[in-house]
Amino acid sequence: MVLKRVGILTGGGDCSGLNAVIRAVTRAAIIQENAEVVGIENGFDGLIFNRTMKLTTHATKDILTLGGTILGTTNKGNPFEYREYDDDGKIVIKDYSDKAIETFYKLGLDCLFVVGGEGTLEIGYKFFERGLPVIGIPKTIDNDLEKTDYTFGFQTAVQVACDALDRLHTTGRSHQRVMILEVMGRNAGWIALEAGISGGAHIILIPELPYNIEYVVEKIKLRQKGGSPFSIVMVAEGAHEAGGDLVSKSGAHSRLQGVMQLGGIGFYVAEQIKQHIDLEVRTTVLGHIQRGGSPTSFDRVLGTRLGSFAVEAAGKGDFGTMVSLDTPEIVLVPLKELAGKVRTVPLNHQLIRTAESIGINLGNEKM
Ligand code: F6P
Repeated sequence: MVLKRVGILTGGGDCSGLNAVIRAVTRAAIIQENAEVVGIENGFDGLIFNRTMKLTTHATKDILTLGGTILGTTNKGNPFEYREYDDDGKIVIKDYSDKAIETFYKLGLDCLFVVGGEGTLEIGYKFFERGLPVIGIPKTIDNDLEKTDYTFGFQTAVQVACDALDRLHTTGRSHQRVMILEVMGRNAGWIALEAGISGGAHIILIPELPYNIEYVVEKIKLRQKGGSPFSIVMVAEGAHEAGGDLVSKSGAHSRLQGVMQLGGIGFYVAEQIKQHIDLEVRTTVLGHIQRGGSPTSFDRVLGTRLGSFAVEAAGKGDFGTMVSLDTPEIVLVPLKELAGKVRTVPLNHQLIRTAESIGINLGNEKM
């Protein structure tokens, strides 16, 4: 099909590599399809309230290495269930999907590229069901999307966490301390597991394997006995004790977002360790540092491949799909197969076996 005008939006939490995708989509659409490219600002908000920018080769120069998204994003704006305050300060939920669809047609778009994680892609699929020609592009530092080997943004986050562990190693060793690093990932332990292995953590706690503090303490003591008076503990923000609850730093739900903000488990684990062992324990929470900064070369290449392939798919009219990495190829999968699904670390995953095989304690058994 002939593409005259295409639109692209980025939704959900930002991550490194988004601009590489925006650049690739823009350039491939101009070079391969001779199409105009419309950047939709701040996720689906831009579609609801008709806020856009023109994307050109010039507008996308020098953004390959830039973190964040030049289009802006939000993880609050679901047009089908839009949460906003009424005049009395109460949250009301409205359906703005018709308004968003109206804008799509007003803009004269032939395709909408939706770049996002599970939540954003689910919204994209709903719009596809309502007749919009949507193609999804998978992003998230959490790497928790089904049907793709990796999401872009993940590898950069892992590298940042790995660098942090390298630094914590030196201070942990110098001071004979237990150094805890809390990383993001929501209910998936991918960042903690990959960064923990690459950064030489001695203990890694992930949401998929609820931990028992006795096993954690035993491992630290074992290291002490073996002549290593320091330990490095990697904790995923969604990790929790066997039979325990998730820890939330806000202690509440973000009202407009409507989801629990995770964080604080690193401090909780520190207090638990201190009760059992006379060692100094320090906690570092890496937070949004994992989402910012320049993408690694892997994420730049992945983002560029996904963006370019998405334009190719749009040219063939393959809508209702997501471009995905099925190593070594980029392929298309139906958006329908992703809806509402989150990919956590399977308990029989080789990364878990790898960690255990080299003596990393995962907090769920004595070792
Ligand atoms: O999904 C990406 C992510 O960074 C999670 O790892 C984290 O729990 C969440 O977003 C944080 O969201 P916010 O930026 O709203 O604090």
